[in-house]
Amino acid sequence: MKKLTGNINVGVFISGRGSNLKELIKYSKKNNTNWKIKLVISNKKEAKGLAYAKKNRIINYGIENMKPQFEKKALRHLKKNKINLLCLAGFMKILSKEFIKKSKFKIINIHPSLLPKYKGLNTHERAIKAGDKYAGSTVHYVTAKLDSGKKILQTKVKILKKDKPNSLANRVLKAEHIIYPKAVDIVCNKII
Ligand code: GRF
Repeated sequence: MKKLTGNINVGVFISGRGSNLKELIKYSKKNNTNWKIKLVISNKKEAKGLAYAKKNRIINYGIENMKPQFEKKALRHLKKNKINLLCLAGFMKILSKEFIKKSKFKIINIHPSLLPKYKGLNTHERAIKAGDKYAGSTVHYVTAKLDSGKKILQTKVKILKKDKPNSLANRVLKAEHIIYPKAVDIVCNKII
């Protein structure tokens, strides 16, 4: 894959709240980064993050089709908008091998665990149950194997005795808001 240089067009896939999307938008504006969020696609039309993209005049689409149709339509928008980097941010579908193969851009994801631990869902619950001292989040490249691509950045969050999955998730989310934009900077070859 080609090294990213120049002005980099970033696309973001979301499914809901979109707090990471919001932080990516804010960070790129504030720091005048060499990357810019150009396109937001959600597989849920009611996603809050989609409304935020609209408010910020970013091209946005809600595509509620089944996976093959969703991917076909999304790929068309990504190509049309010359997207160089796709960020998954709370996107709850698993992209197909074909989609990953066909995309000529890099794809990264943020996952709420210290990968390789706890791939998949309910990560905080599993970390608490296992008696782990730390939870966290990982930004990684997306490959055909779920939550298994090369790590870009990882952040650790201490698990407190009184933690429930929700309280832990709130603290991890705050840490995610810091690392995701920094990881995009790294991928876009900017020294942080
Ligand atoms: C984050 O915790 C992320 O790690 C996971 O889904 C959550 C998305 O939150 N993949 P938001 O939609 O960005 O607020």
